[in-house]
Amino acid sequence: MLMKIELDSPLDMHLHLRDGNMMRLVAPLSARYFSGAVIMPNLVPPVNSLEKLLAYKQRLTEALYSYDFHLYMTLFFQNYTEEELLRARSHIIGIKLYPAGVTTNSANGVANILQAETTLKIMEELAIPLLVHGETHGFVMDREQEFLDIYRDLAIRFPKLKISMEHITTAAALKLLDEFENLYATVTLQHLLITLDDVAGGLLRPHLFCKPIAKRPEDRDALQQAALSGHPKLMFGSDSAPHPVHAKEACGCAAGVFTAPIALPMLAELFERHHALDHLQAFISDNAHRIYGLPRQAKTVSLIRQEMTIPQKYAGFGERVVPMNAKQTISWSYED
Ligand code: DOR
Ligand code: ZN
Repeated sequence: MLMKIELDSPLDMHLHLRDGNMMRLVAPLSARYFSGAVIMPNLVPPVNSLEKLLAYKQRLTEALYSYDFHLYMTLFFQNYTEEELLRARSHIIGIKLYPAGVTTNSANGVANILQAETTLKIMEELAIPLLVHGETHGFVMDREQEFLDIYRDLAIRFPKLKISMEHITTAAALKLLDEFENLYATVTLQHLLITLDDVAGGLLRPHLFCKPIAKRPEDRDALQQAALSGHPKLMFGSDSAPHPVHAKEACGCAAGVFTAPIALPMLAELFERHHALDHLQAFISDNAHRIYGLPRQAKTVSLIRQEMTIPQKYAGFGERVVPMNAKQTISWSYED
């Protein structure tokens, strides 16, 4: 008998669905296997008004075909008035803050966190969560660690603000997570599996290059341990970030790993290898539902222990994108 697991309402708490033809290609690939996702706002120009957000949501909805998939929208952080946030509140799950210039399409981000004070105060009062790309402009391996002081400061100064440290990559970030009640975190598939050695230790592997960069073995091991134990404040957020193949296989390689369509079987493989399949449901769904108080979408995704070869690429609408671990065979697949 084939071993099978059923995941109830799997959520991707950090997803880049882009716009235009790339959106048309990738949105259904998430919608098929997840019950919902938190949609990142780093378009060009950014999603920084309710009007832009509703128009983007409409374009996404049209790209989803008939899949049952909940779009949890985010606004791009800038200074907003209380009136703007009151209007936006029921349409968003949170606001995503990018320090200016730290990653793809973040030029309009926050140059000085002190200038964000007033808006953060309003968000705290209106119970709008803050999602953060937590990196400084320091040395690439130290950027997250250096940002931890800012997280600590925010957690102390805004004790009622729910703060999600997005795509954490270090053991130090996990430690901070346990120190403050109002801190939560997402972690990606790639940061659970790889270290900087996989990216740049041998031949350079552009499809594993992302921000924050993968770190040291001890960081990866700490992240694994937390996810595999079903840590109640840790959620799966793929940070699946598609770039056209020519932008990845290039002299200046764009940052971003495309994982959305293969994330669940790869997680099943990882959790099974560590005898932790019992905790996959918490990591992929229950923690996020509880932390954000989300309704269940009543969607079940079945995985079976049967080999699957990851496609070399996903193509359509004139776009081509290469997934993580393309052409490799993994031990789990989708039932259908
Ligand atoms: O590698 C990344 N790619 N990190 C981010 O923070 C943004 C993302 C993207 O939008 O491509
Ligand atoms: Zn991201």
